[in-house]
Order: sequence, then structure tokens, then C-alpha cells
Amino acid sequence: MDDTLLLNKTKKFPKNSKVLVRVDFNVPLKNKSVIDNSRILLCIPTIKLLLENNNALILISHLGRPKGFEENLSMMIIKKHLKKIDFFKNKIIHFCNSFESKKIENKKKIVKPGEILILENLRFDKGEQKSCELFAKKIAKNVDFFVNDAFAVCHRTDSSIIKIPRLFNENKLPGLLLQREIKELNKVLSSKEKILAVIGGAKISTKVSLIKKLLHTCNDIIIGGAMAFTFIKYLNGSIGQSLYEPEQLENVADILKNAKTLKCNIHLPIDVISANINNTKTYKRKITEIPYDESGLDIGSKSCENFEKIILKSKTIIWNGPMGMFEKKEFKMGTEKILLAISSATKSGSYTLVGGGDTLSAISNYKQHTSNFYGFKYISSGGGAMLAFLQNPDLPGIKELKND
Ligand code: 3PG
Repeated sequence: MDDTLLLNKTKKFPKNSKVLVRVDFNVPLKNKSVIDNSRILLCIPTIKLLLENNNALILISHLGRPKGFEENLSMMIIKKHLKKIDFFKNKIIHFCNSFESKKIENKKKIVKPGEILILENLRFDKGEQKSCELFAKKIAKNVDFFVNDAFAVCHRTDSSIIKIPRLFNENKLPGLLLQREIKELNKVLSSKEKILAVIGGAKISTKVSLIKKLLHTCNDIIIGGAMAFTFIKYLNGSIGQSLYEPEQLENVADILKNAKTLKCNIHLPIDVISANINNTKTYKRKITEIPYDESGLDIGSKSCENFEKIILKSKTIIWNGPMGMFEKKEFKMGTEKILLAISSATKSGSYTLVGGGDTLSAISNYKQHTSNFYGFKYISSGGGAMLAFLQNPDLPGIKELKND
């Protein structure tokens, strides 16, 4: 078992101090408004605890992938949104719109115990993603303690993730969300039950190393989404215009070969919902017989039935990635059937772990129009971070919080 679970177990959260808290408030936005605040809500327990301990908090986060200053990605949007959340309504929240040392220092002086200061989007400064030490020093100056509650970005080596914690020696801790993520994901890694992984999404290239690693721990892997077409192509099926990655054929061959040796069953879709080039007409096709002018955009009903059977007999299930182009109503059936099957497995007592931006959007879309949903055992706040953790739990941001 990885020792990250024991991370700073004996250490306590600080009191009466100035505390820098790295959160992941990288939430989806539309027209400068937050459209899903789940990630913000998940950080509240840590913020609440620290405020109750009479600390003055400096919250830092990135938002999107800006190239320099972009008003549409300013943390001011988040500050405004916080005022709509009950917990933050009566809190005094300051904002610093510049990374000039003097300005940050002045703001740090103003923020009192029980109050919050939010700094501007860290990625507006090149130092953040270049993992610059000077940038880290500027942010951490005159602060007593560092808390990282940003699991979703712990797989990155940004300055706030790996350089800032180095400046705090003993005075650093994982926040409550980060601790929970480590605990839940470790449950899967140390599971003695047979594990099923359901992996979807568009590109096999982004998940090859994960799938290769999962072959060692899983008994079954279901592959859905457009990434299945690279497998079908390798197996000589006709996939028409469906998305596939020719440069990944060799990796697919390796995966299928190793799966046999390691006795892991790879389950591929057998049918699809396809569409003509303009997406004006849809068809039910065998996945190996898609006409040259159509592309497969969702798994078909026979595949759903096969996958549902496997899901319902599995005791530990990991799910990342949709089964099709779920954003369009014609192609959302596969993702919704799988979602429902995994949530039913949860109801019957299976341990179910889901994560990933698209997967979470599919879940929140589905939840809005159904009563037939039993949830999951754990929904990770991380997409890339969750996949990276399952390959190697020693993520850069987690490693830096340990005191060896
Ligand atoms: C995420 O949304 O997965 C995290 O916030 C990390 O963002 P990034 O992929 O832009 O580093």
C-alpha cells in the first residue's frame, strides 16, 4: 500500500496563521459565468476548517489555459460566483489583480483572520507553468503555512504545485479533499476484488499507458468511444470515416497481446450508431461493417447489452470517458446506458469510481432528467490527475507534501 495515506497523519491544520491554500477552481465557464461549481463546493470543507481555526486565507488557483492575461479567465469571475454560494455569502473576500510583489504584499497585510484573499489566475504569469522558483517565492512570501487541496492538478509540475510546497519545510499539509481523493483511489489500487475498467473517449493516444497499466490489475476492460475504432481497424474491420489513430495501431497490438498473457478480457463494441457525413441521417451498423461514407458516433444497443452484463457482475468498477458523442441527443444513448448500469451496480454494493471532465458532464446532464440514478461510490474531482494517479500514485504535487 502506498504510504501517501499516512501523509502527515499526526500533523494538525494550522491556527491563527496566514495560510496559502492551492485549490482547483478550474471550473467550466460560459460568457464569464460559472456553469458548474462542483469543484468549488468540494473545497469548502478545507476552507471552512481553516477559517474556523482563525486563519487568514490566501486562495490560489489556475483557471483554464490562458496565454497571458485574458479577462474571460480572470479569477474575478470566481470571486463574484462565490457570493452566490451560501457558505461564502457573509465572508469578507479581498482580491489581488496583479502579480507585482508590492501589490500582493499589501493585500496580504490587509487580509485578517477569518477573511479570504483571492489572487489572480496563476497562469496569467508565465512563472506558474514554467515552474519558476522566483514566482513561488513571491506568492509564498510572509505566509506561515501551505495547504494543497487541488487534487485535479497534482499531476502537473506547475510552480504552485511543486515549488511552493518546497518553501514550507514542515508547514504544509494536503487539504481534506486531497486526502479523500488519495484514500478513495488507493482503495481501487489495493482492491482484492476483480476490477473492471470502462474506458471511453475520443483518443486512444491519451489513454494508452493507462490501459497498459490496467491490464495488470483488471480482469476486464471495456473500451468504448471513438478510441474503439483504432482496435477495430487493427482487427481489419471496416470503420468508414470513423475517427481512428493510425500511429496507435502498434500500441493496440501490444495491448491485445499483453491482455492475453495477463488474462485480462478486452471487450469491444460490436455495433454502433453511425451517421452520414453531414450528420443528417443515422443508421444502426455492425461496428466492422460501417460504409465508407459514414462514421460511428455512439455504441449500439447490442454493445450496451453486453457491457451492462459485465458491469452488473463486477464488484469494483472504474469509469473514465464517454461511449459516444453524448453532447448530441442522437448519440447519447450508449453513455447513458453505461452510466445507469454503473450506478445500478453501486446500488447493489459494488465499489464504483468515476472521473474525468466529459464523464462528469455526461453525469450532470443525465441527472437533470431522470429519477433513475443511484450515484457512484466516489466521483473524483480529477480527470487527468485521476488517470495519472491510477498509473503511479506518487503524483508530483502529492510527493512534495511528504516530509521524508
Ligand atoms: C483539470 O481540469 O483537469 C485540472 O484543473 C488541470 O488542468 P490542466 O489540464 O489545464 O492542467
